[in-house]
Amino acid sequence: MKEEKGDQNGKARSGYEGVGRFYDLFADNSDIPFFLKYAKKIGSPILDIAAGTGRITFALAIDGHEVVALESSQSMLEVAKQKLKHASPVIANKVTLVEGDMTNFNLERKFELVLIPNSFVHAITTEEQLSTLQCIRNHLTDSGVFILDFYPGEMQYEHAEFKENPVSLDDGTTVERHGEIRSNMQNQIMTVKLQYIVRDSEQNIIEEVEVVSSAALLYNKDVDHLISFSGFVVVDELGGFDGQSYSLESGRRILILKKSKEK
Ligand SMILES: C[S@@+](CC[C@H](N)C(=O)[O-])C[C@H]1O[C@@H](n2cnc3c(N)ncnc32)[C@H](O)[C@@H]1O
Repeated sequence: MKEEKGDQNGKARSGYEGVGRFYDLFADNSDIPFFLKYAKKIGSPILDIAAGTGRITFALAIDGHEVVALESSQSMLEVAKQKLKHASPVIANKVTLVEGDMTNFNLERKFELVLIPNSFVHAITTEEQLSTLQCIRNHLTDSGVFILDFYPGEMQYEHAEFKENPVSLDDGTTVERHGEIRSNMQNQIMTVKLQYIVRDSEQNIIEEVEVVSSAALLYNKDVDHLISFSGFVVVDELGGFDGQSYSLESGRRILILKKSKEK
């Protein structure tokens, strides 16, 4: 079992603080088989950036891969640490948790595969996006693969509200999640408000937590420029984790990238 502290100046990100314990309850795990497939094809070591609770990290480790998980939120890392604590020694030895900021990190090693599942949007400014991509490039072997997934800004609503089905926990409580998304098409920033409501077995509210996070609205052309400027070339482009080809109607864009020869 290993835990490290990165040498980066992590910035406080409020959007996930205090709610790490709820994250996996509402996670859509349909991306996991996709990442396992690529890991099998490309190999280890793997760098999982903005790894959150280690949702994907541990699935990869269970499949036999060595994974370093970089994450800045204490609340998310706390859940990952609990998973590490309860993992078998074989799995625990494959996972390294690093507290750090994806926009500025140096782990002094390179990886065959780098992932940033559902998280590049948290690099908000162009400067943060470029520095994140530069750090990733520095950590990729010359033959390595970087998988960048995002929801194209073109497909986002200006305003949406949603309510998810309550999840029942072993202690008899239930957790509900309500959300509101507002997209500002001018500054290309999306604000996501999430409210978690915990009820006891008699349906009384025993806890309510609200968090707000910001995410970049990433338009396709912006991402094309960012990756080309950062020294990556696209080797494949998909429209979903089930492997379908990307089209302009795809709600998701998944880029399989390699280092370009010159940069
Ligand atoms: C939507 S969650 C995805 C978590 C995980 N990748 C997954 O798919 O389950 C986004 C994660 O990005 C993390 N994050 C946001 N900004 C970050 C930064 N600058 N450096 C590292 N992690 C960051 C958040 O704390 C959160 O855990």
